[in-house]
Amino acid sequence: MKNFADSIVDWQQLYGRHNLPWQNTKDPYRIWLSEIMLQQTQVVTVIPYYLRFLEKFPDIEKLASASEENVLSLWVGLGYYARARNLHYCSKIISSNWGGKFPKNSKEIQSLPGIGRSTAAAIASFAYDERAPILDGNVKRVFARHFNIDDDIRNKNCEKKLWKLAEEQIEKSPNLNMTNYTQGLIDLGAILCKPKNPDCFRCPISATCVANHEGRQKELPKPTIRKKLPDKTIGIIAAKYKSQFFIEKRPSSGIWGGLWNLPEFSLSISPLIKAQSFGLIADKYFELDSLTHSFSHFRLFIYPIYLNVLKIQSKTLENNYCWLSKKQLTSIAMPLLIKKFLINLFKNTPDI
Ligand code: ADE
Repeated sequence: MKNFADSIVDWQQLYGRHNLPWQNTKDPYRIWLSEIMLQQTQVVTVIPYYLRFLEKFPDIEKLASASEENVLSLWVGLGYYARARNLHYCSKIISSNWGGKFPKNSKEIQSLPGIGRSTAAAIASFAYDERAPILDGNVKRVFARHFNIDDDIRNKNCEKKLWKLAEEQIEKSPNLNMTNYTQGLIDLGAILCKPKNPDCFRCPISATCVANHEGRQKELPKPTIRKKLPDKTIGIIAAKYKSQFFIEKRPSSGIWGGLWNLPEFSLSISPLIKAQSFGLIADKYFELDSLTHSFSHFRLFIYPIYLNVLKIQSKTLENNYCWLSKKQLTSIAMPLLIKKFLINLFKNTPDI
């Protein structure tokens, strides 16, 4: 009987995915981009973003010489914008410190900001056939079921155990095709060993899988107890003056970092006072329907208000503020939620 890794490779060849846009290439840049986009986002969502991104930035140098704003604008809708900022930052490091050549092994790749062990290993195994194990959330599930690991897979000690198992499977297969093995593990987690209703009948490693033998697929991996997300509440101001809207660039860290947005205000102060701090004078405001959005660590409730600015007091504002027309607003790097809100507002309120 074939061992774990060899069985996965055989299965991948027959039943895995072979024509995703980031497959059939050894270009580390293309592979890196796909792995970053795929970190928190599903394949079907990533594909059009990936293709658009590559069309605009076909290599590291093109990305390194782009403005952050242009990079972010191609990320609008994918979320987790720190990924785009890091990607851009890494391209600049590679361009200036690595002579434009992508690092040649997983250790070097992992030294770049924002790239963890599993992502570095995925890139190195696909681009350089390095014998480096991956361990993302889906692969953890495969290992936890197969090897009967019933601790919390997010626990540090458990993670150590899983890394060791991941290393051992590679060691046991001296002639492993690493591209096919890594893709095979990813495909197995996505196609058969799914969180719910795993298809053990078709699984190439079901004969040695403890969860399958003991009927414990539902119990493994042990479900993590998720705390209820805390709620945050903010207001945003859609301030119009002579057919243009006032927007601010968000600080580069935190949610929506580096994106343009309608100015935010705390609901404990009047939006008229907040607007005045930018030199925007108005005598009344209109409350609009609220929006909600779940981030990884909190739920955000947004209360938008509309303000027809009567006059502008001259104020020296830094260049992270600007006025844009309706048309310009739709093409700028702005959170999709806010963009959609504005498009709706314009559609439903023609006077605005
Ligand atoms: N998720 C992470 N890497 C992937 C890949 N290479 N193919 C499909 N999904 C993935």
